[in-house]
Amino acid sequence: MRHLIDSTDLSRSEIDSLITLAQDIIAAPEMYSDSCHGRKLATIFYEPSTRTRLSFTSAMMELGGNVLGFSDAASSSASKGEGIADTIRVIDKFADIVAMRHFKEGAALVAAQHSAVPIINAGDGSHNHPTQTLTDLLTIVQEMGHVDGLTIGFCGDLKFGRTVHSLIKALKMYHDIKIVLISPSELQLPSYVKDEIAGCDMEITHTESLEEALPQLDVLYMTRVQQERFATLEEYERLKDCYILDEAKMTLAKEEMVVLHPLPRVNEITRGVDADPRAAYFRQVEYGKYIRMALIFTLLKWKKKGELHSYKHYVAGDDEPSCVNAKCITATEDVDKLLTLDAAKRCAYCDKTTK
Ligand code: NCD
Repeated sequence: MRHLIDSTDLSRSEIDSLITLAQDIIAAPEMYSDSCHGRKLATIFYEPSTRTRLSFTSAMMELGGNVLGFSDAASSSASKGEGIADTIRVIDKFADIVAMRHFKEGAALVAAQHSAVPIINAGDGSHNHPTQTLTDLLTIVQEMGHVDGLTIGFCGDLKFGRTVHSLIKALKMYHDIKIVLISPSELQLPSYVKDEIAGCDMEITHTESLEEALPQLDVLYMTRVQQERFATLEEYERLKDCYILDEAKMTLAKEEMVVLHPLPRVNEITRGVDADPRAAYFRQVEYGKYIRMALIFTLLKWKKKGELHSYKHYVAGDDEPSCVNAKCITATEDVDKLLTLDAAKRCAYCDKTTK
């Protein structure tokens, strides 16, 4: 059985196969309309979502399967104090596969440790969002023809934006990628993501100026400033409009550049940009449904074949409480203390360096 917790749980060839399958589905959706007949997807969302949850729901319906679940922690037994491990041991009796979104970093990994069915991480705090990464990669392939060799700018909230973290980590598996990080110093990429990509074959530069970066980009990945992750409203207010992409700025960009955004958009792209053919963010939403169809179909097939789970191997940590990240699932749930296998002592759940 395989789970998808982190974008690097998949190899490059597995990602390529998922993209090819999504393209086959786009070309002939009727061929797949019965392929998950009798199978059930549970969508368990402890955090708000429009696109991701409905995209999973629509994907499973288009595969001929059924969907159950909840869209609000308050309507689940989490509100009575039930932990993730127990919830998942219940849900795996009702569903063949689970898509889970949670506000705590590492929540999906805890679910995977206790689940008898595949777990798909649909977002865990500001940590990871691997199905958005698959969506983004399919979108880039459909719009640009390939991912290798591209210069990709990430603009906005690179600190809390989980879609940015997951996509940048996945880009390690591609060749000749140039990444331009566009953010104010307060919203820079977390150091653990920088550590993960250090030493790989990617050229990474940083600028605070969107205007300066724009002319060189093949892909501009805009993001929302993540209000819900800020410690104070004042800090959010100060940073919320740090970048606004408008029609004037689009004149600085290449003719064939594409603009991606995981959505929801707040102010960071003006509505005037929507009519520009380079604005690919609403097409991106539709690609998200097709790649999730490919993913659900594939994980259920792997499950049948008895394929072993492949998320990174972790080692048991010291007996001492190790993770100091208050947003990590280890802060609130009684879980096995685990560290990642790399040299730095990092918590396996949230990837932050431990004490
Ligand atoms: C993103 C998310 O939830 O992380 N949205 C999405 O899944 N499409 C981005 C965001 O909320 O800003």
